[in-house]
Amino acid sequence: MSEQGKTGALLGAILHIYPKTFTNIGFACETILYTPQPAISANRTAEIFAIVAKFINLLLKLSLPCEDYRLRFSLCCKTHAKGESEVTDTPMIRMSGVQKFFDDFQALKDIDLEVAHGEVVVVLGPSGSGKSTLCRTINRLETIEEGTIEIDGTILPEEGNQLAKLRADVGMVFQQFNLFPHLTILDNVTLGPIKVRKLKKSAAEERAMQLLDRVGIGNQASKYPAQLSGGQQQRVVIARALAMEPKIMLFDEPTSALDPEMVNEVLDVMASLVKDGMTMVVVTHEMGFARRAADRILFMADGEIVEDSDPANFFDNPQSDRAKDFLGKILSH
Ligand SMILES: Nc1ncnc2c1ncn2[C@@H]1O[C@H](COP(=O)(O)OP(=O)(O)OP(=O)(O)O)[C@@H](O)[C@H]1O
Ligand SMILES: [Mg+2]
Repeated sequence: MSEQGKTGALLGAILHIYPKTFTNIGFACETILYTPQPAISANRTAEIFAIVAKFINLLLKLSLPCEDYRLRFSLCCKTHAKGESEVTDTPMIRMSGVQKFFDDFQALKDIDLEVAHGEVVVVLGPSGSGKSTLCRTINRLETIEEGTIEIDGTILPEEGNQLAKLRADVGMVFQQFNLFPHLTILDNVTLGPIKVRKLKKSAAEERAMQLLDRVGIGNQASKYPAQLSGGQQQRVVIARALAMEPKIMLFDEPTSALDPEMVNEVLDVMASLVKDGMTMVVVTHEMGFARRAADRILFMADGEIVEDSDPANFFDNPQSDRAKDFLGKILSH
């Protein structure tokens, strides 16, 4: 069987085994998306994306409930009708008593967290402390064993269409760029709005161009991802997430894979989102950004939120030994 056939067969088998749980298809797609380069060539990735895209279309034609699958596949095909952005007391994110296990290992321990509308929270902590897991639970890329997570007043359900809708309110930007290599920059940004939001191509392109201009790469729209620098690609990812009009943006080390001279161009775009009042949760090692942009710093260790304070307090007067030790190491570089 050809490699393509094998991939198709794998997805087919997963679908067959878990007919009700499209999340598993999502995991398969995510695994493909996250397969690190160069373990998989650009051509091969493009082939796999093409197969998965065909598979999605087939499911859509069959009117199968593939919301989860579709959303996970692209990580950009997230949409929602953005709610009225009224000032409200309801937190944008509320996590209550959240416990997350990977088998016997507890990655998140009794997390209680509220993030207000427009608040910018920077999450710091040593490797393995649970920062990524925290982000991933916020839109249910990870399930949780106990507790509840609310997005703008609505509890995230386990799965189903309602989850897809709520998840669409949350844009995510990861360390890896995850652009579709076989699509132009413009098509990468318009794909979600056209396929998911059913926007007309012309309207989606107009909006995409505005966003690409906003992140400073309007002149790159007809290129392919491989023709762009890392910093430019990451800005496309941000534009792609914004095209879905998210209520919340989650950033998980968005600049860690970038060459140092490209870090600032991405941080500048993030700072402009802060100015616009976007609710943001940002995992980063960029302490300058954390100090300048954050309303709050969360410091995590061993799956717990150990400190939750404003940047000045955290950096100048850390309370816990873990935070002191962490800052000592980070700031000594
Ligand atoms: N899919 C998984 N299966 C098993 N354990 C996992 C999985 N994902 C994360 N973990 C474990 O959960 C803990 C928290 O991981 P997480 O990726 O959230 O840490 P992090 O704070 O983001 O670290 P880093 O700074 O290195 O990115 C780690 O001990 C990790 O090994
Ligand atoms: Mg991480």
